[in-house]
Amino acid sequence: MGICMSDFATLDQLSLKNKTVLLRADLNVPMKNGVVTDTTRLERLLPTLRELARAHAKILILSHLGRPKGKRNDEFTLKPVAAALETVWGHKVAFADDCVGEHPKAAAEALPHGEILVLENTRFHKGEEENDADFAAEMAELGDVYVNDAFSVSHRAHSSTEAIARLLPHAAGRLMQEELTALNKALGNPAHPVAAIVGGSKISTKLDLLENLISKVDFLILGGGMANTFLAGQGINVAKSLYEADMLETARGIAVRAFSRQCRIILPSDAVVASALIENADVKTVPVTAVPENGMILDIGPESVKEIGAALETCKTVIWNGPLGAFETKPFDKATTAVAKIVADLTRQGKLLSVAGGGDTVSALANAGVGEKFSYISTAGGAFLEWMEGKTLPGVAALA
Ligand code: 3PG
Repeated sequence: MGICMSDFATLDQLSLKNKTVLLRADLNVPMKNGVVTDTTRLERLLPTLRELARAHAKILILSHLGRPKGKRNDEFTLKPVAAALETVWGHKVAFADDCVGEHPKAAAEALPHGEILVLENTRFHKGEEENDADFAAEMAELGDVYVNDAFSVSHRAHSSTEAIARLLPHAAGRLMQEELTALNKALGNPAHPVAAIVGGSKISTKLDLLENLISKVDFLILGGGMANTFLAGQGINVAKSLYEADMLETARGIAVRAFSRQCRIILPSDAVVASALIENADVKTVPVTAVPENGMILDIGPESVKEIGAALETCKTVIWNGPLGAFETKPFDKATTAVAKIVADLTRQGKLLSVAGGGDTVSALANAGVGEKFSYISTAGGAFLEWMEGKTLPGVAALA
């Protein structure tokens, strides 16, 4: 799976001066009542935007927003996102109400060099998700070169991430480059020992990921509901805890294969239990072998945090996906926060390279106040998971 810097072209290899650049960005940002609520993905585009502007390129941004399923739908217009980008960028950002055809063509012609034009949602066209070559050609007509800075959507073989790259000189943008470099250091070609921390509720959604990790990492640290399934697979009574009864055999199989590949699985030894998942519930900390009959495991316990900390002390690399407990409800965010702080500390001391990603993970780490203290936090959700599964991402492969 290793991604080498030689596997994709970067902006250094592309002639940009006075060109019209089609920049695939991921403007799929969280919104509420038509207003952007988190601008992280926009801020992360700035290095590429600055570099393109310095080269006096015209910057035409292609992106999707949401899942409008091939039809124009005002609920998913990129117009408010273009306005939010204008604030982040600090200069005027123009908007064209389509990503193909006469209107964006005229808008691109009128655009001064060094400025940005956001094109309307690519997913308003059926051809986008079909990776349709004709639709890609219509988009490609608008520019001279193609830059993909949207790692977080590069697991989709869509026209604006895959087919278009075959039609124009292409390269990864700086954000994509930074992301691939960090991911490569964490799992492609990492310094060992490597630990993977995997949480979240279900094994069934992360089977490929677990199988890939046990052949790559030295420690697989499990938390969240998925750890309960492993515990139950060992014959431990997890009482009312969330677990997957039909996955016990699968969990045992993963444990056996991990052992034969010298990957040590670390399961929680103690847990924080309550009879309901409610804010400030009556909680008890018990060994995992003594969960009361009406109890649910809602977080891993302090002993488990210590054991994880001791393992991390011996590691050079950690990759993290998924919270260790029901972190959205207090106090079940405690262990995730404690382990996040350990990782942040070891990172600050230069002992650990730390990479995290996936939707819930990013909010859990932000909640722990360590958002900026890891070596790299990816804003990708599905793409991060597919990459952890060892899959080739079509949008990345197309940049070769
Ligand atoms: C994301 O937010 O994960 C990306 O923008 C991909 O969105 P999608 O899952 O709708 O393809």
